[in-house]
Amino acid sequence: MLEVNSRLRCTRAYIKEGICLYDCTLARPQKRFSLDKASHRANLRHERTNTMGKIFIADDERIGRASAVIKVGGLVAFPTETVYGLGANVYNPHAVAGIFKAKGRPTFNPLISHIWHKDQLPDLAKTDSRASFLAEKFWPGPLTMVLPRKEQNPSLDLVCAGLPNISIRCPNHPVALKLIKLSNCPIAAPSANRSQSISPTTALAVLESLEDNVDMILDGGPCAVGVESTIVDLTTPKTTILRAGGLTKEELEEALNEPIYLSDGNPNRPTSPGQMLKHYAPSKKFRINALSAEKDELFIAFGPDFPDAKMNLSKTGDLREAAANLFAYMRQADETMEYERIAMAPIPETGLGLAINDRIRRAARN
Ligand code: TXA
Ligand code: MG
Repeated sequence: MLEVNSRLRCTRAYIKEGICLYDCTLARPQKRFSLDKASHRANLRHERTNTMGKIFIADDERIGRASAVIKVGGLVAFPTETVYGLGANVYNPHAVAGIFKAKGRPTFNPLISHIWHKDQLPDLAKTDSRASFLAEKFWPGPLTMVLPRKEQNPSLDLVCAGLPNISIRCPNHPVALKLIKLSNCPIAAPSANRSQSISPTTALAVLESLEDNVDMILDGGPCAVGVESTIVDLTTPKTTILRAGGLTKEELEEALNEPIYLSDGNPNRPTSPGQMLKHYAPSKKFRINALSAEKDELFIAFGPDFPDAKMNLSKTGDLREAAANLFAYMRQADETMEYERIAMAPIPETGLGLAINDRIRRAARN
C-alpha cells in the first residue's frame, strides 16, 4: 500500500491539473444508436466520473507525459487495436504489483508484455523460426505468442506469475507503439478493467471500471478490433490457440500451412490461467442463440434478417464489425432498465466468430 501511495504521489507530479482535453465524441463507439433513458443516464454518469480528469486525448505531448508516468512506476491505460490495456514497466515489480492491485487480479494470472518492434522479442523470449515467422507476418497485430522465457530474470517473475513462459505481443495501434517506444521498456498490460468485468473498448469504459486506480488514461478513440488478441502457445511443436481473439484460426492455419489446435480448457493441457477464472457476465439473464426476443428481453441481433432489432452487432453480417461492437453493446444492454433480460442472436462459428462466441458463451455461463 505504501509503495502504491508513493507511486501515485510521484506520478501525479507529471499530470498537471487542467490539461485533460476530454472529448466525448472520441470516446464512444462510432456506431451510435438511441436506446432509452437508462442508457442516457449511464452516459451522464460517464461524464460525471470524468471530472476526475484522468482522460487525455492521446496527442504526442500527452503520450510523452504518459511515458514519463510509466518510467516512474505509474499505471497508464492506453488504446490498442483490440481493447484498452492497463500498462506498467515490465521490469518494475512494484509497478506491476500496482496492476494486480488496481484490477483486483490474482497474482497467479500472468500478464502480456507489449513491445513496439518485433526485434525486441529475443530480449524477453527464446525464439525459433516459427515464432520469428509469425512475428514477421502478423505483428504489429492481435497475436500474442507464449514462448519460453529467455532467462529467469527475477524482475519478470510477477509479470509471468512464476511460469517458465512469457506472453508477448506487438499491438497495432500508433498510440500504444509510441508509448512503449518512448517508455524505453516493454509494457506489461492486461485489459484495463477490474478483474472479471468486461474488457474496455473506450477510454470512458476504462474510467468507469478502474475509477481512481489508474494514473492516466490515454484516449485514442474506440478500439477497431474490439475483442482481445489471439493467444497462441508456441512452447510445444503443436501450435495451440489458448484464447480465440482478433487473429483468426484460419489466418494462422493459412500462414503456417498446418493444423492449429484449440485448447479445450482441460487442466492437463496448456491453457491461459485467465481462461479458467470466472468471466464477465451481464447482471441480467443472458440467452444465446436466440432467433427473436421473448417478453422482457432486449434482443441483440446479428445480420440482415433482423431489420427491426434495436441493436444489431452488424446489419450486414460482418464479423469484424460485430467484434468491434460486441463489448460496448453488451455493456449497454446490461445497463438499460427497460428490459429485464438479454437475448443474443447466433453468430457463425468461423473467423472472428470463434472469439465472439467464446466471449458470449462465457458471459452466458456465469
Ligand atoms: O488484446 C489483448 O490481449 C489485451 C490488450 C491490452 O493487449 N490484453 C489482454 O490481457 O487481454 P489480459 O491480461 O486481460 O488477458 C491475457 C490472458 C490471460 O488470460 C492470461 O492468463 C493469459 O493471457 N496469459 C498471459 N501470460 C500467459 C502465459 N505465459 N501462458 C499462458 N497464458 C498467459
Ligand atoms: Mg482481461
